[in-house]
Amino acid sequence: MNSGMAEKILKYLDENNEVNTLKLASILNEDHQKIIGTLKSIQAHGDLVVAEPINEKNIELTEEGKLVARQGSHEANIYKAVPEAGIAQSELMKLSNGKVGFSKAMSNGWIFVDKSVNPPVIKKKVPDIKDIAQEHLQQIEAGNHSSITDKEKAEYKKRKLIQEIVIKSFLLKKGPEFSTTLTKLETDLTSDMLLSGNWKDLKFKEYNFDALGVPPVTGCLHPLLKVRTEFRQIFLEMGFSEMPTNNYVENSFWNFDALFQPQQHPARDAHDTFFISDPQFSYTFPEDYLSRVQSVHSKGGYGSQGYRYDWDLKEAQKNLLRTHTTAVSARMLYKLAQQKEFRPVKWFSIDKVFRNETLDATHLAEFHQVEGVIADYNLTLGDLIGVFTEFFKKLGITELEFKPAYNPYTEPSMEIFCFHPGLGKWIEIGNSGMFRPEMLLPMRLPENVRAIAWGLSLERPTMIKYGFNNIRDLTGPKVDLEMVQRSPICRLDK
Ligand code: PHE
Repeated sequence: MNSGMAEKILKYLDENNEVNTLKLASILNEDHQKIIGTLKSIQAHGDLVVAEPINEKNIELTEEGKLVARQGSHEANIYKAVPEAGIAQSELMKLSNGKVGFSKAMSNGWIFVDKSVNPPVIKKKVPDIKDIAQEHLQQIEAGNHSSITDKEKAEYKKRKLIQEIVIKSFLLKKGPEFSTTLTKLETDLTSDMLLSGNWKDLKFKEYNFDALGVPPVTGCLHPLLKVRTEFRQIFLEMGFSEMPTNNYVENSFWNFDALFQPQQHPARDAHDTFFISDPQFSYTFPEDYLSRVQSVHSKGGYGSQGYRYDWDLKEAQKNLLRTHTTAVSARMLYKLAQQKEFRPVKWFSIDKVFRNETLDATHLAEFHQVEGVIADYNLTLGDLIGVFTEFFKKLGITELEFKPAYNPYTEPSMEIFCFHPGLGKWIEIGNSGMFRPEMLLPMRLPENVRAIAWGLSLERPTMIKYGFNNIRDLTGPKVDLEMVQRSPICRLDK
């Protein structure tokens, strides 16, 4: 606070007993607003002054009124523009404010229409005029309008040359705690004040409950994680439990071989998969399971012919960044099969996967997959369709269509399409299928146990939900961090 100013005000009040803040502003040559601000801080110190609010009505010139005060009234300007010989009315109308000026000059009896000539012309009717409107407005501008009648003022107001304003000020008087100096206000109650007891004599600053406050610094979830929270909630509501996905580094065995994906499959190429160079290989595998996987690939079994090629252990040992979360599902199903007694399961996972993609507006080299798996006796494709229908219904998606597809590990396989009302078209949202016997039986799951599964990306629904056209606005080095703070929480069914 400007305590110099506060003390000037108090000193003036001490000598004069009372003063209006407007008058004080002109005496101290200060802006009135500043005087009011200082008054507020004086009041924070207690009842030093009594401030009685005063609302004074006043009039001031409008922009048009100021013009008239400077350049004359519209009617006077019309009068001045009329030459001795007369002028066509249309010429006068071209002047600024010609229309009002003309009719005022006519009703004042300053000009007339001479119809004795053809076409008629406008001529002066009186040799001289007095521009009273201009004089009045100049007086109002100078703050001296006692000689102007209320009727005249009403007329100028109607012509929008003047307007009424309310000037707010305060009449200041000495208060019960008047003093010419301000004591410093304490902002904190300290332990010293409590111990010494001097808190009783100190003055404390009042709380300002209208202060805007400092915006709290908080963490906030990225839109992808907001959508993940919502997906997770849906799975949990449907009785699914979450699989552990905390291993981005996987080996080819679990990522591909266990899923009956042949070693020559193009997805197992360095063009599609990020292989790890250090450590390059994994060596610990469940030995007998590994040999059953080798055998189903190379020779077949369980009613299948297999792929009939020389399965290479080295290829299965290669480490990589997992290309899909189905690697996690494979590990989990194998673990389930090792239990003494089979029990049905409903599992889900939502986490990162990595692919050696060419980056563009809709593809990144790392993205998230949402995956659901159910294993139970005698499940059918009908169960799979039933579960999705329920799952997607909770996302607000009710129109689904399926298209036959191919995955090495599922048969049958279906791509899932949904109708997007916003985009007005069918879009692919996921992939699904029933895990093949060549995948499940080497794990030693009971013969009549079927596993149905589906997967979708987390990025696609997030982009649709938050209106991103470019995936790089969502993740990567160009992300606007404020976007992360601004994005609202996600409700998928709304
Ligand atoms: N793993 C598949 C993919 O990466 C998705 C999928 C999951 C398909 C489960 C079928 C069953 O696209």
